[in-house]
Amino acid sequence: MSTGGKSEEPFRLDGKVALVTGGTRGLGEAVARDFAAAGARVIVTGRDAAQAQTVAKSIGGDAVGYAYEAGGMAGVESLSSVVIREVGRLDVLVNNAAILKPHKIEKLTEDEFDQLFQVNVKSALFLTKALLPLLAMGKGAAVVNITAAGGHVPMAGIGAYCASKAAVLNLTRTLAKEWAVKNIRVNALTPGSIATDMILPVDPVKREKFVAEMAAMNLMNRLSDPIEIARAVRFLASDAASFITGQTLIADGGFLA
Ligand SMILES: NC(=O)c1ccc[n+]([C@@H]2O[C@H](COP(=O)([O-])OP(=O)(O)OC[C@H]3O[C@@H](n4cnc5c(N)ncnc54)[C@H](OP(=O)(O)O)[C@@H]3O)[C@@H](O)[C@H]2O)c1
Repeated sequence: MSTGGKSEEPFRLDGKVALVTGGTRGLGEAVARDFAAAGARVIVTGRDAAQAQTVAKSIGGDAVGYAYEAGGMAGVESLSSVVIREVGRLDVLVNNAAILKPHKIEKLTEDEFDQLFQVNVKSALFLTKALLPLLAMGKGAAVVNITAAGGHVPMAGIGAYCASKAAVLNLTRTLAKEWAVKNIRVNALTPGSIATDMILPVDPVKREKFVAEMAAMNLMNRLSDPIEIARAVRFLASDAASFITGQTLIADGGFLA
């Protein structure tokens, strides 16, 4: 069974192996760096193997980088088999890789809908399932699924993305119910607006206006830095959360308050 939270430094991840999907940029990269600083051996993924390896090298220690394309089952099979073969252990899985494509429903195509659900829901679920043999091996594993405020409340202009995140929230609770017996905790983390490529316009003028509008939507009146969310992810991944499963931690500056 798990340590029951008896570790002397429960917020640290010493001795744990953690896989962070989409660890090459944005929140995933911040999570990977924070986990490594807290003592974990980190596996990062990106669609480009060389990019994932570059990030892993810059993290240092024994971090490794692998290619992962969440656009189909081939990517799930390829990543899970390489992790099983080359690492052979997994204590923490962070399903972070996702895509956001703005769309009004009347213009949404079937391809766009399928892609959103393939990357954000189906790949994350089947990757988790494929890695179950490793997760179930240790003294207590943790899965953290990254969701979004749009999974809790619908948002005009990104409806299918919101629906995909709502599906992740629901599946998180199902997995928690089915896998508690295997000593695997499954939780979700809902970030508010984070200053990353996913949402920031490239054009500096548009970016300034966008940031001001997004900031005004939460109580803290600003976007979060990725590290602020990464620390909340680490809490759920760590032994400090040893009695928490099937829950969603919301780190959104009060947007959903
Ligand atoms: N940013 C926000 O305001 C915000 C708010 C709420 C929730 N979130 C959630 O937080 C998580 C991280 O978002 P972020 O803002 O850090 O996003 P980001 O900056 O766009 O980074 C996305 C990451 O996912 C990877 N990725 C993208 N498409 C992929 C695919 N088809 N297959 C495999 N990997 C893929 C990217 O890797 P490569 O491009 O290198 O392949 C990158 O590492 C997501 O789950 C997102 O929904 C973000």
